[in-house]
Amino acid sequence: MLLRVPDLPRPSVASVDRAAIELARVLGDSRVIRGEGCAPYASDESEVLGPGADIVVLADDLECVRSTLEIAARNDVPVTPRAGGTGRTGGAVPAAGGIVLATDKLSRVKEIDRKNLIAVVEPGVVLGAFHDLVEAEGLFYPPDPNSLASCCLGGNVAENAGGPRAFRYGVTREYVLGLETVLMGGTVVRSGKRTVKGVAGYDVTALLVGSEGTLGVFSEITLRLVRKPEGVSTLLAIYTDAASAARSVEKMIAEGIVPRCMELMDARTLEAIRSQKVEVDPRAGALLLMELDGTERHREESLERVAEAIGSAEGVIDIVVAKDESQRAHLWSARRALSPATRKLAKHKLSEDVVVPRASLTTLLERVEAIGEKTKIKHLTYGHAGDGNMHVNFLWNDDEERPRVDDAIEMLMRDTVALGGTISGEHGIGITKLPYLPIEQSPELIALQRNIKSAFDPKGLLNPGKIFQQAGHKLC
Ligand code: LAC
Ligand code: ZN
Repeated sequence: MLLRVPDLPRPSVASVDRAAIELARVLGDSRVIRGEGCAPYASDESEVLGPGADIVVLADDLECVRSTLEIAARNDVPVTPRAGGTGRTGGAVPAAGGIVLATDKLSRVKEIDRKNLIAVVEPGVVLGAFHDLVEAEGLFYPPDPNSLASCCLGGNVAENAGGPRAFRYGVTREYVLGLETVLMGGTVVRSGKRTVKGVAGYDVTALLVGSEGTLGVFSEITLRLVRKPEGVSTLLAIYTDAASAARSVEKMIAEGIVPRCMELMDARTLEAIRSQKVEVDPRAGALLLMELDGTERHREESLERVAEAIGSAEGVIDIVVAKDESQRAHLWSARRALSPATRKLAKHKLSEDVVVPRASLTTLLERVEAIGEKTKIKHLTYGHAGDGNMHVNFLWNDDEERPRVDDAIEMLMRDTVALGGTISGEHGIGITKLPYLPIEQSPELIALQRNIKSAFDPKGLLNPGKIFQQAGHKLC
């Protein structure tokens, strides 16, 4: 595992012990873990390994969250909130030790209001289960990060998660109407609304979405739902190369063709899929996986438009439509397995989630090739091409390659920003991307955000070591 640990002050043993005693008294022994039982809470799905938690609290109601944040603040013990633990940038890694506040047992769906198209949930609800539940009611919650089988809504909100369907439907923030949030110290704040419109005061809800667990801990989330689309068609465009596929994406966007997803996979990504014994058309040097949804008529029309726009484009070999649900599921299982499959290709992997304006997608892919040439670091790229949001993965085996990996990532970040893009489209900054934030954001903007953080958490005890570089932070 790759280590990239901020060098942060740890809480004193005496304050940890005091907090643990108070927590056990208030919450009961069964909700408070110490010692070896804390080990599974030391990491998330990034490659970051921190010092581990001193205490884990298993919260199952608002009062647990409130008491934990109150006791932790009083004893100066840092708290790292955690939901599904599927984050990719170290957001749930307890970088300064202290308490991990696990919210995965806070997992009730409190309400599904069909008339107003609203759901009220707790942060530990698993996204995939929530999809099934609302879809059984004829409703639809579009955000679909690929970890949906195990990621939780609390983490999705904390990271403002995206996924393939964000192309048509937008990211998590567009579905969060209101939040109940517990601040460090135990104050409970309800922000937002149950209405679709509402401009009273600052949009604190929008600020909390994507705040990576650094401003507060969610105890209840009010979500906007939409009607379930009547049907879905999946199609696969097979290309000779990724640049041709990217040109097709740019063309469809310019022509206003909006499938609900447009996922691009380059040649090396296809090799990774094939190496997992998943069948991929042998002619393919790149793929575009697309989904169209709506009524049958709408889908047929959209299919025709897609075929017209890209059917005879340079580099396109074939366009195939999934015949049935099992073929569709097969295509998606290969896509969803990409992240774990690439992890098996080398000892180490760092996956980025840069975004460029969509018309610069081809240029981004060219830059990635150039970076690979220059640094001689193995890489592969796939992702949400319709959003200009690509997962560029750097892979390596030997420690001596590591400085070149850092160079490659920095070059990618600089190229992305120079193209008018952003260094993170969906995984957040966390720990892994924290050294690169100043490439994108001015010192003034970072200072303003630090002031916001201080207003919520003056002692800096909530999820320390994330987003902003600390004095003394070191890369290992
Ligand atoms: C994906 C994750 C890595 O799109 O965001 O597979
Ligand atoms: Zn993604």
